[in-house]
Amino acid sequence: MAQEKSADGTSMREENVQPRKPRVLLAASGSVAAIKFGNLCHGFRQWAEVKAVATKSSLKFIDKASLPRDVILYTDEDEWSSWKKLGDEILHIELRKWADMIVIAPLSAHTLGKIADGLCDNLLTCVVRAWDYEKPLFVAPAMNTSMWKNPFTQHHLASIHKLGVQLIPPIAKILACGDFRNFGDGSMAEPSVICSTVVLHLESLRPVEDRGNSLSKTDGDLFESVLHNLH
Ligand SMILES: Cc1cc2nc3c(=O)[nH]c(=O)nc-3n(C[C@H](O)[C@H](O)[C@H](O)COP(=O)(O)O)c2cc1C
Repeated sequence: MAQEKSADGTSMREENVQPRKPRVLLAASGSVAAIKFGNLCHGFRQWAEVKAVATKSSLKFIDKASLPRDVILYTDEDEWSSWKKLGDEILHIELRKWADMIVIAPLSAHTLGKIADGLCDNLLTCVVRAWDYEKPLFVAPAMNTSMWKNPFTQHHLASIHKLGVQLIPPIAKILACGDFRNFGDGSMAEPSVICSTVVLHLESLRPVEDRGNSLSKTDGDLFESVLHNLH
């Protein structure tokens, strides 16, 4: 498959082979908090298959060397370089089909606005625009307090809430945007909190009698019922 960069040669079109781990599409947009994206990928990688998507702005903050070696990072260039002619696979559709869930962390004010209004001018927003909301989509916003308090933010959050998007709320701390006099809301939740929020959500989908087993186990059997409920 032209756009699949995996060294193991597996195709995103491959039939689902059960049992398997959950497939998480982790995405970063252009907030300073994207410096933690590698850390986040490592956390999810412990219990999930992970593919990553980065917007052009987020690449300013992401140290690609910090990502787990087996996590493929897709960018807007991959969307276009992988498509040559009618009949070729289209990356945002393939990713949308592959993923059991999307986690956008950090979610910038700009990408939040685009998702809320249905705009899709890059790889990430095209995946989201094509998303099946029967499957989970989590967002962890990260922005300057002034942006967070802006009326547009509430308006956009209300819109994505109606779509079924699940919010991992930002926290208050000293801003990482150079405005060190300010302590306020808008910082991305810690990667460990983002990871555990998603794990708890998956756990809640499992039959009550099966809960309590650690989702950090890599045993695929553990995820069978979770995946059953996700699809
Ligand atoms: C140094 C720098 C830091 C930024 N930090 C943030 C941020 O924390 N949150 C945010 O929403 N936007 C931030 N921005 C603005 C976004 O990068 C900008 O709106 C960009 O268009 C977002 O594009 P994207 O959502 O496609 O990634 C920052 C910009 C710069 C130059």
